[in-house]
Amino acid sequence: MTTYNTLTLEKNEGIGILTINRPKMLNALNQEVLEELSFALDEVETDFSIRVLIVTGSGTKAFVAGADIKEMKEKNAVEGRIFSSLGNAVFSKLEQLRQPTIAAVNGFALGGGCELALACDIRIGAENAKFGQPEVGLGIVPGFGGTQRLPRLVGIGKAKELIYTGANVAAEEAYRIGLLNKVVAVEALLEETKTMAKKIMRNSPLGTEGSKKAINQGMQMGLQQGLVLESEIFGALFATEDQKEGMAAFVEKRKAQFENK
Ligand code: CAA
Repeated sequence: MTTYNTLTLEKNEGIGILTINRPKMLNALNQEVLEELSFALDEVETDFSIRVLIVTGSGTKAFVAGADIKEMKEKNAVEGRIFSSLGNAVFSKLEQLRQPTIAAVNGFALGGGCELALACDIRIGAENAKFGQPEVGLGIVPGFGGTQRLPRLVGIGKAKELIYTGANVAAEEAYRIGLLNKVVAVEALLEETKTMAKKIMRNSPLGTEGSKKAINQGMQMGLQQGLVLESEIFGALFATEDQKEGMAAFVEKRKAQFENK
């Protein structure tokens, strides 16, 4: 386990668990958390033992209650822009991480917390999960990707409603609108998230990584360009051991043993 000041990174049986650890502040994201998150993500990216990353918050009350309002309060326009750029750079690094990522959302995921979950590939929520983008009530706009990733996930109309009203959305409603992939009991959150991670880990790491790249990059392109990208990634995988092993295992009616190469 690597312990940072404001977060921890555990590694066990191929699963990395990154926990934002400022429970007294409901895991609010200040400059230090963002900087440490950036270091921790570099550690995950280059660690071949980690196949799936789970992102969560310490305690049961909050995943992350947003950017740190007390720290932001005194910022001027330039400092505000730089803080937003830092958050956007770090969350983009998370979104583009080589490995698949799952947010295990325990309690409040507000503002920057909702945006942190949005930068993950998949979101599993405890029954007490609450999402919201309350920034307009603070005289600002979402600044760590909410105005861009929320409409891409739930549609423009719903995203505008959530952002303009600043209203919280409970877990079941979040599931209904596609913000959550699954809702589970509070005490089962980490286990259920690990179960999903293990399902992903049964498949080839390079196939998963390639799919993630095709989906993420494809979302920024037109359909025809995206299909060209898909064919390129599809073709490149035929030069890997994982493709040879996956197809040989099917033909030989045995379980594939993927080696990430
Ligand atoms: N920033 C700084 N401190 C925060 C915080 C935040 N985002 N959220 C909670 N805290 C602190 C509280 O100030 C409090 O500390 P003190 O005891 O020192 O006062 C402690 O965490 C516990 O919180 P509460 O006493 O408020 O707990 P509660 O149960 O009464 O309410 C809550 C919980 C509804 C989540 C409430 O804390 C809340 O509304 N938090 C702010 C949510 C918010 O507005 N988030 C968006 C931030 S802006 C943003 O994120 C911008 C962006 O896009 C980058």
